[in-house]
Amino acid sequence: MTQSLTLSRPDDWHLHLRDGAMLRAVLPETARHFARAIIMPNLVPPVVTGADAAAYRDRIMAALPEGMDFTPLMTLYLTEDTDPDDLAAAHASGLITAVKLYPAGATTNSASGVRDFDKVRPVLERMAEIGCPLCVHGEVTDSEIDIFDREAVFIDRVLDPIRRATPGLRVTMEHITTRDGVEYVQSAEQGLGATITTHHLVINRNHILVGGIKPHYYCLPVAKREEHRLALRAAATGGDRRFFVGTDSAPHTDPNKESACGCAGCFTATNTLSILAHVFEEEGALDRLEGFASLHGPAHYGLPANDGTLTLTKGDAVAYPQKIDTGEGPVTVFDPGYPLHWSVQA
Ligand code: DOR
Ligand code: ZN
Repeated sequence: MTQSLTLSRPDDWHLHLRDGAMLRAVLPETARHFARAIIMPNLVPPVVTGADAAAYRDRIMAALPEGMDFTPLMTLYLTEDTDPDDLAAAHASGLITAVKLYPAGATTNSASGVRDFDKVRPVLERMAEIGCPLCVHGEVTDSEIDIFDREAVFIDRVLDPIRRATPGLRVTMEHITTRDGVEYVQSAEQGLGATITTHHLVINRNHILVGGIKPHYYCLPVAKREEHRLALRAAATGGDRRFFVGTDSAPHTDPNKESACGCAGCFTATNTLSILAHVFEEEGALDRLEGFASLHGPAHYGLPANDGTLTLTKGDAVAYPQKIDTGEGPVTVFDPGYPLHWSVQA
C-alpha cells in the first residue's frame, strides 16, 4: 500500500482570491500548497483592463507572506467593451495568462459580463490570433432554463458556436459539472480543456438539499445528480490530459453563506490536496493524481510544470481548521463529510 506520494508541485487553474482583508486571509491557504493559480477577475469592480490586472497582481504579491513562493496567473474579465489592443498588450507582456468569459448574471459579480456574444467576436478572434486562452463560465442565464440544465444548454447554444466560429481559440471550460461537459471536452479534436473542482468530485445535489439545506455546499454551477459526479470522477482520475484541477475555491463569509439569499461558492483551498488524494485513492488512481493536479494544466496553458515537489503522506486523520478567520468574518472550509488521511508534508 502506498503511504507516501510525491508530486511535481501542483497549480490551481481556477481560484478566487478577492481583495483586501479577505485576500490576505485566504492567499496563504493556496500558496502553502500550490505554486501558481489562475486568478479570477470577478472583483467589484471587475479586473477589465491591463492596468487593473497589474494593480491586482501587485496587491496579491503584497499580501503574500514572506517566504511563500507563489505566482498569480492573472486574467481579464471579458466585457462587451473590452479593448482588443489593451488585451493583446497585456498578453504579450506576460501580464495576463487568459481572459475570462462570464455570461452576464451567471454568478457572483458577473453583472458586467457578456449579454450579446456577437459583440465579443472580434476580441475572441484577436485572442485566437495571439494565442490567448479563453476561460469560460459555461452556464446560460435564460430564466426559462432550469438551473440543472444550464451547463448542457450553454454547450449547445453558446460554446460550440463560439468554437466553430473561432477555430484557433484555446478554451478552458471551467468547473464542469455534468456528463455532457465531460463528453463535449472528450469529443473536441483540439484546443479544449476543462477544469474540475474538488467539491464536484465529492458532492451531488442531494448533499445540498437532503436533511436540511446546506449553504456551504451551494456553488455555481450547482452540483448535479450522482451520475454526473461519477462522470466527473471518471474524467478526473482517468488520465486524460484534457482534465485538470481548478478548485474554484471561492470564499464568502459565513453570514453571507448562511443567509436567506446565500452566496455561491465552496472554500476548498485549505484541504483540496488531502481530498483529491482521498478521491484518487478511492478510484484506485493515486498514480494519476500528479497528472490531474500538476501536469495536465501546464500542458494546456503551454507552460512548464513546476520544478519543486510536494509530498503527501497517509496516516492519522488530518487536522485542518473548520473555519478561517478573515478580518471580514469567518469563512467555513469545505467539509467532505469524512475524515481525511492524506496530509501535505510541511
Ligand atoms: O460558486 C461560485 N462562486 N461560482 C462562481 O462562478 C463564482 C464564485 C464566486 O466568485 O464566489
Ligand atoms: Zn469561479
